[in-house]
Parts: sequence; C-alpha cells; structure tokens
Amino acid sequence: MKHLLSIDDLGRDGIEEMLSLAENFVEVTRRDIPKVPALRGKTVVSLFYEDSTRTRLSFETAAKRLSADTMSFTVASSSVKKGESLRDTVQTIEAMGVDAMVVRHSSAGAPHRVASWTDASVVNAGDGRHEHPTQALLDLLTLRTHRGPALDGLHVGIVGDVRHSRVAHSDVKAFHALGADITLVGPPTLMPESLEGWPARVVYDLDDVIGNLDVVYLLRIQLERQSEALFPSLREYTARYALTAARAKRLRPDALVMAPGPINRGVEIAAEVADGPASVITEQVANGVAVRMAVLWSLLGSGGSIV
Ligand code: CP
Repeated sequence: MKHLLSIDDLGRDGIEEMLSLAENFVEVTRRDIPKVPALRGKTVVSLFYEDSTRTRLSFETAAKRLSADTMSFTVASSSVKKGESLRDTVQTIEAMGVDAMVVRHSSAGAPHRVASWTDASVVNAGDGRHEHPTQALLDLLTLRTHRGPALDGLHVGIVGDVRHSRVAHSDVKAFHALGADITLVGPPTLMPESLEGWPARVVYDLDDVIGNLDVVYLLRIQLERQSEALFPSLREYTARYALTAARAKRLRPDALVMAPGPINRGVEIAAEVADGPASVITEQVANGVAVRMAVLWSLLGSGGSIV
C-alpha cells in the first residue's frame, strides 16, 4: 500500500490487519519508553489546511514514537498566505526530502491530488465532507477493545450531522465491513442528499431507537460546512437529538458512547454523559496514536521490524 486515501483502500482484510498491527503498537505506547526505531531516517510532514487538535497531534506523536523526523506545516504561518498554490507547496516540501505527507484539507479529493504530485506516501487526515479513514480505524480499535474482533450484529447509531461528516462516511464503510448494523439518526436536512450506496437505515427520531443501540456515535453539528440554516435552532436540535442525561438513562446497560471530537458539551452531548461511565471518547483519542503508528509503519516500514 503506497497511500491511505480512503477506507476503501483497505477492505475488510486490510482493516483487520491494520487493527491487529495497531494492537501491537498499543503495547508499545504503554512501555516506559514508548518509542521504537522502526522509521529511523524517514521524514513525515503534516500538511494541514484545516484546523485540528487530535489528528494532527496524534500523527506527529505517532511519527516521533516510530523515531521518524517530523515537519509541520500550517497555512496561517506559510507562504500560502502569499498566494502559493497547493501544488507548489507540495513540490516545495517534497524538494526537502519527505517520505510521507499527512494531508487535511477542506476540499474533498485534495489528498488524492497531492498523491498525484508527489512520490511520497500520502495519508488522508480528513478531506472536506469526503473521508477520514484513520478516524474510522481508531473507532474500530476502540470497539474491538470492548467487544472483541467481530462486530457482527452490533447495532451502531450514528447521530447528527451525517450530511457534512467525513467521519460518518468512513465509519459507515468501516463498521459495515466488519459486520455492524448501522442506523443513521438525525433530521432529514442533516442526512446525505442521496443514501445510495450507504449500507445503513435512517431514523428521524432518536427516541425511537435509543434503547436498541449498542453504540451511540455522536457527530458535531458542522456549522463551518453549512451555508444555510438546516434546522430551526441549536436548542431545538439539542431537544430532539442530543444525548442528554435523561436519554442516556434509556441506553442498554453495556452501550458505549462515542464521538470523534471535538465535542460541544450541551449541544450534541450532555457534559455528564461525555464524562460518564459509558463514554469511551478519551479512549478513542488514545487509540488514535497507535492506529496512526500502524498506518505510518505500513506505508513506510513494512518488511522491517516493529521491535
Ligand atoms: N476527530 C478529529 O478529526 O479531530 P480534530 O479535528 O481535532 O483532528
């Protein structure tokens, strides 16, 4: 595998192999010195044209724990501000000698374009509304920790702004590949324009399904991707679709609460639910480092030893 641009690049077998590899890296991250020499001599650059906390820091941490050198690019302090194009930026960075580019961009397909301009490996760290494959992998790793490797029949409800969510797109494909049943929940205006090809059913009332879910996966309302009002008010959205403390009481006793982050407490999730016993949101973040170590090692270090 040269690039990871979509969860489709992996398929079921590839996803399972990546998760098994990530489990080895979880063990590495728990060592007193959580570092291995696997990617010594390699250079990984983060090329982020959109804001990020989790993805950016965990990729950089993952690269450092594999002993790779890292470079970090932010639009705000770069020559993009002087009009430099994406292609010229990519070619400039490549000229410095890099082995992998981790790309986040507001335009769907930008990482694919970058891959066509460089000999380096490219990882999609989120492109517009399209995909976020490493988020899907870390979500699956978190589910495996709690439910074992087979997700057959696990009922996952993905709640909220599915229309604008690259996470939902990658998660639906990845959860389905491992056998989960998926229900999308939200107002019609926040569902995809077409559900063709989505292996999921749609429900418009969270209260109709809340008691039947094994996993409630809460999406943030992505106001930055909305050009028009798609629901009357945040208050009404919260009343109908948030995981409030009252709704959380109706969850199955072993149900898990997940979110890709960032979360907006009091909007899609109540603070006490985000911090409550069913929530695995911080575990997801922790697993992001091991998953991204697995991805970088698969792209740059295969054939060598993890140690
Ligand atoms: N989940 C996620 O992609 O978070 P960041 O935007 O903070 O990277």
